[in-house]
Amino acid sequence: MAKVRKAVIPAAGLVTRFVPATKAAQKEMLPVVDKPAIQYVVEEAVRAGITDILVISGRGKRTIEDHFDRSFELEYYLETKGKYDELKQIREISELGSIHYIRQRDPLGLGHAVGVARQHVGDEPFAVILGDDIMVDDGHLLGSMLEVHQREDASVLALLEVAPAEISAYGCAECDLVVDDDSLRRVRGVEEKPRPEDAKSNLAVIGRYVFTPGIFDALDQITPGVGGELQLTDAIGLLLALEPVYGRVFTHGRYDIGQKLDFLRANIELALDRPDLGPLLADYLRALVRDRLT
Ligand code: UTP
Repeated sequence: MAKVRKAVIPAAGLVTRFVPATKAAQKEMLPVVDKPAIQYVVEEAVRAGITDILVISGRGKRTIEDHFDRSFELEYYLETKGKYDELKQIREISELGSIHYIRQRDPLGLGHAVGVARQHVGDEPFAVILGDDIMVDDGHLLGSMLEVHQREDASVLALLEVAPAEISAYGCAECDLVVDDDSLRRVRGVEEKPRPEDAKSNLAVIGRYVFTPGIFDALDQITPGVGGELQLTDAIGLLLALEPVYGRVFTHGRYDIGQKLDFLRANIELALDRPDLGPLLADYLRALVRDRLT
């Protein structure tokens, strides 16, 4: 069975939820502490053993490309100033694997963005990692999805239990339990952004997927769905009729940096975990809570 060697990072959305920051800048380049969001995502793929990464980009493609490219000018400057730690960090970014780019000319939807990857991915299984969902779990979720794919030779979705009222912001998965594996599900149906009263479950499909190449034929068949966009969820629905699809339920570690509150949470929580920033930030937060919030 083919091992997953390639990951696709769709990063071409128009971004309406994070203006004005994203008027000119790409959402995936927003810094979380001191790294752009997309670097966390690329590092996650590399940690899971995937080194061929395709970024689906829209406008603002240059900034992402420049970020993962070498910067001889900056490297020279840091070297002459003796800033060797910074130099090491900058060099490591450009050695993070083999990163390719394809442009999605029009943001017709996530389903369309993934379909654009076909010419690069070919007839192989592959992972899709959304560039605006950061997972802080040491690659555990993606790693366990790859294991399920390897064992079952099937597509695998990441599923998160959300409050019933929130399901209308996500794709919703209707699932069966799987014997002997508490967090694995057999997916029976998917629906994009159902009304809470119509939702078949409160399991939301979140931005990590492992697909068999069969998804590309399904993507070829979909028509505009919810919001007039070509929805990946609709293609998964077609795939389900032909092949088994599994879901791995996870509980923590995800930040949707396309949402302002989650973006702030990501910055605070990731900075608290950093030895160089955590203790000082914790002191500051304690004083803030004492003086302004109680
Ligand atoms: P979102 O649903 O978050 O849409 O896309 P968006 O346009 O990025 O942001 P909002 O909701 O308007 O604020 C989910 C993921 O799919 C990518 C986005 O870049 C994001 O990573 N995407 C979406 C594309 O690459 N192309 C598209 O046509 C649509």
